[in-house]
Amino acid sequence: MKTVKQLVLICALSLGLVPAQGQKNEYAIIPAPLQLKAQSGQFQFTGDFVGVFFDGVDAASEQALRILAFRLRDAAGIHLGPVANAQKAAIVCVRNTKLTNPEAYKLTVAKNKITIEASDAAGFFYAAQTLRQLLPVEIESATVQTGVKWTVPCCQINDAPQYSYRGMHLDVARHFASKEEVMRYIDQLALLKINTFHWHLTEDQGWRIEIKKYPKLTSIGAWRYRTLDGAYVSVPNRKWKMEKHGGFYTQDEIKEVVAYAAARHINVLPEIEMPGHAVAALAAYPELSCSGGPFEVEGLWGVFNDIYCTREETFAFLQDILDEVVPLFPYSYVHIGGDEAPKTRWKRCAACQQRMADEGLHDEHELQSYFIRRMGNYLATKGKKIIGWDEILEGGLAEGATVMSWRGTEGGIAAAKMGHDVIMTPNGYMYLDQYQSEEKDKEPCAIGGYLPIEKVYNYNPLPSELTAEQNKHIIGVQGNVWTEYMLNEDIRQFRIFPRIDAVAENGWLPQSKKNYPDFKRRLQQMTKRYDIMGIKYSQAFISNPMVEKK
Ligand code: ACM
Ligand code: ZN
Repeated sequence: MKTVKQLVLICALSLGLVPAQGQKNEYAIIPAPLQLKAQSGQFQFTGDFVGVFFDGVDAASEQALRILAFRLRDAAGIHLGPVANAQKAAIVCVRNTKLTNPEAYKLTVAKNKITIEASDAAGFFYAAQTLRQLLPVEIESATVQTGVKWTVPCCQINDAPQYSYRGMHLDVARHFASKEEVMRYIDQLALLKINTFHWHLTEDQGWRIEIKKYPKLTSIGAWRYRTLDGAYVSVPNRKWKMEKHGGFYTQDEIKEVVAYAAARHINVLPEIEMPGHAVAALAAYPELSCSGGPFEVEGLWGVFNDIYCTREETFAFLQDILDEVVPLFPYSYVHIGGDEAPKTRWKRCAACQQRMADEGLHDEHELQSYFIRRMGNYLATKGKKIIGWDEILEGGLAEGATVMSWRGTEGGIAAAKMGHDVIMTPNGYMYLDQYQSEEKDKEPCAIGGYLPIEKVYNYNPLPSELTAEQNKHIIGVQGNVWTEYMLNEDIRQFRIFPRIDAVAENGWLPQSKKNYPDFKRRLQQMTKRYDIMGIKYSQAFISNPMVEKK
């Protein structure tokens, strides 16, 4: 039997109102740091001003603490501000050039001081995200929370990512996402130390980026008037939603998103699809197809035979487009698609056959290679490298191209063996458009499949087929969010969260450091943050039999 006093104390402890004597600190950081040495005791933010001393760091590194500063201001009413010496500071930021990876950092939380070391703003930014995740979950609140002790458990963290490319993709073509939603998504990427946002901007079902030279791309190409309603079924049973759907981003809006991402150490990788998935562009400019059209912006999902013709006008058109795209995106890569381009029209098109004869190409796969190579060479003149889906291997891989391996890992393995860089995004593990529970009827209609978070988590981006040297070409991993069946932000969040946490940890930790039961423990803390942020995540991981019940 417990006394009333003991029961009151147990209650208070479970509510987190009083720190227990000798209570072990808990750490729940996603992605988990490479090394974390737990220590006893806690640092506590007290007062409404907290001094930060910057020791030899540049202005960009000072800015790297801004997101944390906003959280402390909004949720805790605490203001971070610079002070002139280390003695007066609660947080000290020290430039440490021995940390050669710009994304690496050291974080030391002692009872009286927090010290962050990094060589670059990116490292300081990630240290600040870790610090945010060490603070009570209420730090995510939009309004000042009273009655919360703003403590950070003491520890020593030595952290750096396994991969230089840690990506999340978003298809804004099948269903449009507003600029504001894209920014909210970028906020979530930043929290998880994901450093690349792959923005899938063009598709059969919609063209989403303003191109001033070709206004019909958005006046016509950004809008469709019917959309498949529900599951993909054959014709007599197919249903349509007869509504106008679409939207696009102006170039000013794109610049705003890119700057917002940059402030969060996220590169934006634009994707302009070619030669396939181009029906929306062809609806606007049918003269660039083999047949001449006419076409409608597609409302059905799938792969369509009408793709760009390889006549000269197409190249001029796409080069003009890239002339406008390139200045908007400072990232050194442009994604030019290359996937799912049927060769049906090219086989029957006199202009395409003439192109093959003129260039000495043996088949239409080589014609696709010619197309990709030519656009890659054009982008190289603008200082950009290309990324393409693994179909760009067919007919010969363009020099210097990076391959995104999506139809399994075979394409990635072949490309790495050829000395090309690879981003692993195999559809069996990294396509977050699939169901995530076995109770599919309780989820919104999805494209199919079954991808529980545990399967995402356990995926090892390094294929066993490759040597250590070849594995160096696996530069990262990415989760893909195709939105055919993601009609709105709620459904997108349901599919993305929390599987995105598993993607993030795959990108950050070496396989040997990954631990699924520990990840699930940390995920339960993360979902408390999501609750506060209003993120509508799937709870499938809770009913997963592998989850330990508390
Ligand atoms: C793809 O999923 N078509 C790259
Ligand atoms: Zn043609």
